[in-house]
Amino acid sequence: MRQPCSNRVGADHVIDYTQEDFTRRGERYDVVIDVVGKSSFGRTVRCLRANGRYILGNPSLSGMFRGAWLTAVSDKQIIWEAASYQPEDARLLMALIEAGRIKIVIDRRYPLADTTVAHRYVEAGHKQGHVVITVAQDREI
Ligand SMILES: NC(=O)c1ccc[n+]([C@@H]2O[C@H](COP(=O)([O-])OP(=O)(O)OC[C@H]3O[C@@H](n4cnc5c(N)ncnc54)[C@H](OP(=O)(O)O)[C@@H]3O)[C@@H](O)[C@H]2O)c1
Repeated sequence: MRQPCSNRVGADHVIDYTQEDFTRRGERYDVVIDVVGKSSFGRTVRCLRANGRYILGNPSLSGMFRGAWLTAVSDKQIIWEAASYQPEDARLLMALIEAGRIKIVIDRRYPLADTTVAHRYVEAGHKQGHVVITVAQDREI
């Protein structure tokens, strides 16, 4: 079995979602970040502490509406944002990575010719971290 990448990036405690639902542990959280968009909106909100934050990396339309309403009428904040794809953002990310302030987990690398295979792997929804396409240095893209 692969080591969960949350361990590799330094998590103190890991809950395996296939074994246990974090919203049913009776615990309260200051911040929940749902990167993959699979958490139950209602149950997650109920396990936030006062002034808690719920960050949606892949929000559904209903999650955005419910989130906007809840943020307006309660002490909770539901936050979502689309990533920016500006060159200066890429440069900032690169600087943070080079400075060791962001740890990158690379799951697999594929040569450019195997991009279709790489896509299939990503679309299966179980990659851990990033999948990289390697382009030969002497190749024009
Ligand atoms: N907001 C933005 O601007 C923005 C930009 C880019 C991407 N996104 C979103 O970010 C998300 C992550 O994208 P990605 O391509 O890196 O990953 P992904 O392929 O969507 O997710 C793969 C990972 O999610 C885990 N996973 C699957 N179901 C889960 C669940 N119910 N609970 C916890 N973990 C679960 C898988 O673990 P197992 O293998 O163990 O199942 C695997 O490690 C996507 O939903 C994408 O839409 C948002």
